[in-house]
Amino acid sequence: MNRVKIFDTTLRDGEQSPGCSMNLSEKIVMARQLEKLGVDIIEAGFAIASPMDFKSIQAIASAAPNCIIASLARCNTRDIDTAWEAVKDAKKPRIHVFIATSDVHMQYKLRMTREQVLSTITEMVSYAKAKCEDIEFSAEDASRSDREFLAQCFTNAIAAGANTINVPDTVGYSTPQEMSALISYLKEHVQGIDSVVISVHCHNDLGMGVANSLACVKAGATQVECTVNGIGERAGNASLEEIAMAIRTRHDYYEAETGINTREIYRSCRLLSNIIGVAISPTKPIVGANAFAHEAGIHQHGMITNAQTYEIMNPDEIGVPHRALVLGKHSGKHAIRDRLEAMGYEISDDDLEDIFTRFKKLADEKKTITSSDLEALTLHRSRITRPEGSTASTCRLISHSITSGSDIPKISYVKLTRDNNILEGVEYGAGPLDAAFKAVNKMLGVDARLEDFSVRAVTEGEDSIGEAVVKISSASTGEMYTGSGISTDIVEASLQAYINGVNKMFEAGE
Ligand code: KIV
Ligand code: ZN
Repeated sequence: MNRVKIFDTTLRDGEQSPGCSMNLSEKIVMARQLEKLGVDIIEAGFAIASPMDFKSIQAIASAAPNCIIASLARCNTRDIDTAWEAVKDAKKPRIHVFIATSDVHMQYKLRMTREQVLSTITEMVSYAKAKCEDIEFSAEDASRSDREFLAQCFTNAIAAGANTINVPDTVGYSTPQEMSALISYLKEHVQGIDSVVISVHCHNDLGMGVANSLACVKAGATQVECTVNGIGERAGNASLEEIAMAIRTRHDYYEAETGINTREIYRSCRLLSNIIGVAISPTKPIVGANAFAHEAGIHQHGMITNAQTYEIMNPDEIGVPHRALVLGKHSGKHAIRDRLEAMGYEISDDDLEDIFTRFKKLADEKKTITSSDLEALTLHRSRITRPEGSTASTCRLISHSITSGSDIPKISYVKLTRDNNILEGVEYGAGPLDAAFKAVNKMLGVDARLEDFSVRAVTEGEDSIGEAVVKISSASTGEMYTGSGISTDIVEASLQAYINGVNKMFEAGE
């Protein structure tokens, strides 16, 4: 069995894509979960990109000490110095340097000749190696690069000290057969390749990111770069959960294994979806709501007789919670903690206190509380946790009321607290939510614009919890913030989500 390392770039390639940004405390929560999931390497950011990226890399390094922590850097001394400053206190630091090697990138983006690129690789990989023992070198757009030249680039990188060479299909252009052939070619033509890790990094523009990565594993790659839920630039990166489960389910074919604790997959995917406010499609492999649903009668019959008729993976392997588990109005704190632990959530006493208060309120509004409800309360709690030491002001919804209907003005009244002050406001709007959001903006003196809004039922039934997600942008900086709220009243859930988003604007110093 080949041990395939999982290099997770959710917090770099994933996070840099539109609509997927996270604040510092969200990145820390996600990094802790990635460590529990068993990823080998966390690419924590691109240190030179912003002071916030730099700070996040340092914070992620302390949150996930068992993982290798990588920062991306272009092939120049300023990028490499900054990357090293960001990762140097990590237990296991890595600098990930890259330069484009395809003719189109070298000519139009870098404006460099092949010779210049080759000497830059030698110079900059050596420069990085003098600072950090663990160096990864990526040839951006490798799959569209001239093969002989690409092999020379990797040969230079290895001679200069790279421990891992990464072969990206940057624009998701390749096919599995081509990627497999490319790995085989490089194994034959790159000097020193036997002493380094061969990595792949496939984007999903033609929907082949996972298939391309797996073809490379079959051809001998022993590191795969991927993201949770496949988030990333344009159509995303190869999805971590699909790669991990394909290697596990078809280990007979791939003759490989990963260090992923697959029972943490479901929680990791739900957590990320909740943090960035991007829903998981019902038909998404492994973690979509329908991935293990068997509606057709003929399938149901087969499943009852023997699950292996239609199920190639057991949902327990992925950590999918048993929906049917029901809690009652009289369940105490211990029962809640036990249930959450059985579902794999470790919670602090403070979290338990907050979740229990919400649980009691919910139990008054809803007949039965299932593990999905409890999960929604827990994930929501992790979304509203403030960064440690934050002194930014915090707002909380106290109450609201709306007047709405056809042919009458839509009016909302909102009462909230900002730190210790109570504020009240009434506004008109195109609809009750528009009116409520305007009231919040006016009371708090913020210029937040609603960019996206969604609400979904967490469970079946008319008394289900509604989970609202809003994306707001700041009119002055253009920065986007995601907020979420949950309640059996969807107007309340939406207002909570909006206020959660505004709190994040305050935390970011707006
Ligand atoms: O897609 C890509 O080529 C990258 C590199 C920086 C590894 O993200
Ligand atoms: Zn990429």
